[in-house]
Amino acid sequence: MKSFALLAMVLGLAGHVSSGYPFCQGQFAPTPQHCAKFGFEKHPPCIESTNCTTFYDISHLPDQEISAQAAKMAQLITNVFENGNTIMGYAYVHAALRSKMLEPLHGPSFSPLSGYIGFTSGTNDAYTVVQEYNKRTNKNALSKFTAELSRLSNLPFCNSTRASISKLGQPYVDAWVESACTDSVFVQTQLDLGHAMYLRPALKFAAYSGVTSNVGKAIFYDTIIEHGWQYVEPKINIWRILQLTGPRGKDSEQAYLLRFLNMRRSLLCCVPDNVSPSSADRVSDLTDLIATSASWERNKDLSNPVRLAQYGATVKGSENMGYDTKNCKKYKQPKNWHFPKAVDLPIPGTESCHR
Ligand SMILES: *[C@@H]1O[C@H](CO)[C@@H](O)[C@H](O)[C@H]1NC(C)=O
Ligand SMILES: *[C@@H]1O[C@H](CO)[C@@H](O)[C@H](O)[C@H]1NC(C)=O
Repeated sequence: MKSFALLAMVLGLAGHVSSGYPFCQGQFAPTPQHCAKFGFEKHPPCIESTNCTTFYDISHLPDQEISAQAAKMAQLITNVFENGNTIMGYAYVHAALRSKMLEPLHGPSFSPLSGYIGFTSGTNDAYTVVQEYNKRTNKNALSKFTAELSRLSNLPFCNSTRASISKLGQPYVDAWVESACTDSVFVQTQLDLGHAMYLRPALKFAAYSGVTSNVGKAIFYDTIIEHGWQYVEPKINIWRILQLTGPRGKDSEQAYLLRFLNMRRSLLCCVPDNVSPSSADRVSDLTDLIATSASWERNKDLSNPVRLAQYGATVKGSENMGYDTKNCKKYKQPKNWHFPKAVDLPIPGTESCHR
């Protein structure tokens, strides 16, 4: 998950820089009037954790299923937004560069977003992936970084150096790429964590909100990937968007989803950093999928190819999700490459705190 809160926290001092973003115009322009409700100016968007988890306990929220094909569509759509195309970015490592303004404070630090959904030390999920990988195989290229990932994850949540990889460095990036390109156990670990930490919670938040269509599930999945659902980021997480959107009430599911997407886009445009507003284009693409009754009819089941206009990509649903051919050019796909059986991991935040 992206940790844009960490950026926002410090860049907040600099005021809004997002007025120039093409998808943050008109009703989404980051004017004081539009942005006041998000309260970014008053307090940092993060708080410290008070117990052994950074997640809400969502065990009481209703649950729902998603078909394998719809889950595939949802993951491919978000992969386009995160990694630029429909080749699953298991080996993608993207250095989210901090603003130059931060360098006097923290040095030229950056938080790498790695894997198909941008796992990062900034929000602890990279540490969780590596811990789970260690459990599955005791000889792996990433295990030597476990101690440093643990150290970063134990820093105060509002300390932006937790996203710094100055001590992990290029060797960590190389080990991530090598693992994703040569070991299907690592790719399966990413997928299993992605399901437990993001897909299943997204389905619960959707069920709670009265959202049951496949396109609605995909929209909630994409939102939770970008915004997260940790209580330590109360200003930007999916829960906050749901609160500001208000209940579905008598609205049709389509009308409710459009309200939800508009609120998400407003929020992104108001985050006072220079990363979040630029991602308003993905919300525009999702909105286009359901904006008219014709597009709703066509896309609600995700059974037709989906066009993501701003990203210049079409998701068909027949894509091969098995190997990251784009970021693994240096490697040869191992012979007999196949995934081990998926493991159903628990949704985080639901277990009680035993210290
Ligand atoms: C941890 O604390 C948060 C914030 O108070 C709360 O929402 C969550 O339910 C707590 N989780 C556990 C397992 O105690
Ligand atoms: C963040 O953590 C680092 C490393 O522990 C520490 O040196 C620094 O003072 C902390 N910064 C803040 C603002 O707490």
